[in-house]
Parts: sequence; C-alpha cells; structure tokens
Amino acid sequence: MRPTTAEERDARTALNKGAPTLEFGRRVPYDAYVHASTLHTLQRTLSSDPGEMSFLMVSQIMELYFGLIRHELEQAREHVRAGEVWPALAPLKRAALHLEGLNAAWQTLRWMTPADFNKFRDLLGEGSGFQSAMYRQVEFLLGLRTKSLMRPFRGTAAYEELEVALHRPSLWDEVIALLARQGHAIKPGLLDRDVADEHETDQSVADAWVRVYRDTGPENHLRLLGEALTEVADRFGDWRYLHLKAVQRTMGAKSGTGGSNGLAFLQRSMSRPVFPELWTSRTEM
Ligand code: HEM
Repeated sequence: MRPTTAEERDARTALNKGAPTLEFGRRVPYDAYVHASTLHTLQRTLSSDPGEMSFLMVSQIMELYFGLIRHELEQAREHVRAGEVWPALAPLKRAALHLEGLNAAWQTLRWMTPADFNKFRDLLGEGSGFQSAMYRQVEFLLGLRTKSLMRPFRGTAAYEELEVALHRPSLWDEVIALLARQGHAIKPGLLDRDVADEHETDQSVADAWVRVYRDTGPENHLRLLGEALTEVADRFGDWRYLHLKAVQRTMGAKSGTGGSNGLAFLQRSMSRPVFPELWTSRTEM
C-alpha cells in the first residue's frame, strides 16, 4: 500500500469532483489492509442449520477481541514496567472499551433456545471455547494463572506462546512492583516470587491502594491507574457473567462439549478475582 499525503488526497477529490475513487490498479486498497476477502472465507459451518452461522461468527468476533485486548494489556504492562503511569492509561482505556464491544456481542446470541443449539451442538464434538488459547493469554496477563489450563495446547505453537507468557510477570505483578518502587511497603516475598504461580491476595497491596486512593487530586496518577484497572476487571467480569447467562439460557446445567460439568465449572472459574486487592481495599477506604 502506498501512503498518501493530505495534498494528494485533496487533488484526488478535486479530480473526482467530490465522488469516491472507483478505479484501482490491481487490488482494492481496503482489502489490502483489512484482508476482508480472507476473513470472509473463514466461516465454515458444520451443519446446514441457518442459526449456526451466528454462533460461529460471534465466536470468531470474540476471538478477534481477545487478541485485541491482549495487545492492549501488553502495551499497558510495558508502560507500567517502565514506570510510565500516564501513558499506561490509554491502552487500559482502550482495553475496557474493547471489552464493552466484546460483551455487546453476547446480545446477538439471545435468539438461541436449547432446541436451536441442539440442532448443531453434537457436531461441535469436543470443541469448546474453553480451548481458546487467546483467552488464556488474556487471563495470564490479568494474573489469572492456572497452569493446568495450558494442557490442551501441548505440542502446538500456542503452548510455546503460553509458556513464554506464564513466565513473564502479569500486568498485576508489574503494578505491584510499581507500587513498591513508588515507596509503598509491599511484602518482600511478593516482589521476587515465581510469577508462574497465581498471585494470592495480599494485605500489603490492599493497604497500598487504601493510601493511594486517599489523595483524590488530579496529579495522583496512581489513583487514575487504579480506576483504569478496576474498569478492565469490571468489564472482564461482565464477560464472564454474560457467558454464564448464555450457557444457562442455551443448555441449562448439561455437561459441556469441553468435558466439564458446564455451569458448575464456570462458576468455580469465575470465583478467581482479577486484581483482587483493588476490590478488597475498598472495604477499608
Ligand atoms: C451460548 C453459547 C455457548 C455455550 C453454551 C458455551 C458453553 C461453555 C461451557 C459449558 C464451558 C465450560 C467448558 C466445557 O465443558 O465446554 C465454556 C467455556 C468457555 N467458553 Fe463458552 N459457550 C458458549 C459460547 C461461547 C463463545 C461465543 C465464546 C467465545 C469464544 C466462548 C468462550 C469460552 C471460554 C473462553 C471458556 C473458558 C472459560 C473459563 O475457563 O473460565 N463460549 N463454554
């Protein structure tokens, strides 16, 4: 794709007398950038049921959002790691907005009754969203680290990528390190722990947030960071809740295609809090 300047665009508009350009050399530039023609070849349904397409495409839309949210959280983590609190706010804001977009996608599955789902459910075999490697990447970044959930990917490139992610500090680990660098008394063991293990709620981190939130002035960027992170955790919680409701609505308490006991498994999974001390500290504020 050849970049253009504002002058070139104005000249083209004058030449076109205000109408859009209709003639291109070989490939429409939109497609060269968005790869729409490739995207639209990826909807391979398993049945002839007309409803299956919305289930498949909503899953694909959500996968793309998982990738985008991972990208934003990685940006935020690098800024926090570098001690750049203000620049970390923009990717966190974007992540929270993408989570809203992701969550809105649940609304378009509300047509699906158990009878509708049953029309193609058997054909999914053992396939389940539980096997989304990108969702685990998002969880790992948020600090939710259940190592056993990597096992479905053994022997694949996704496993290698998850392995790398598991041994990098999560966004929450970096936030805790930042609190320590900014003078908050954080329990020493927390700063040199094995980051592959899931972080456990800690009182010294909660105490730090209580102190941070006391200063409500605009210069207190740590408080703004706390709120931006809270927003991400809150919207991620919405995804979990909306997923649970979609499951309840379309299959009740049946066993999942992924082999779990469905609702009960998801309820257990949801009980792992994201950025736990941002929640526990509120009781003491
Ligand atoms: C109404 C349609 C859906 C139903 C009935 C459903 C059902 C389930 C069930 C029963 C599980 C537990 C694992 C298992 O045994 O399969 C699960 C997990 C999961 N599903 Fe769905 N699902 C639906 C839609 C989606 C969509 C559209 C996505 C997006 C890609 C998705 C992503 C996930 C993820 C990421 C998990 C793992 C959650 C965790 O580990 O906490 N699901 N789903």
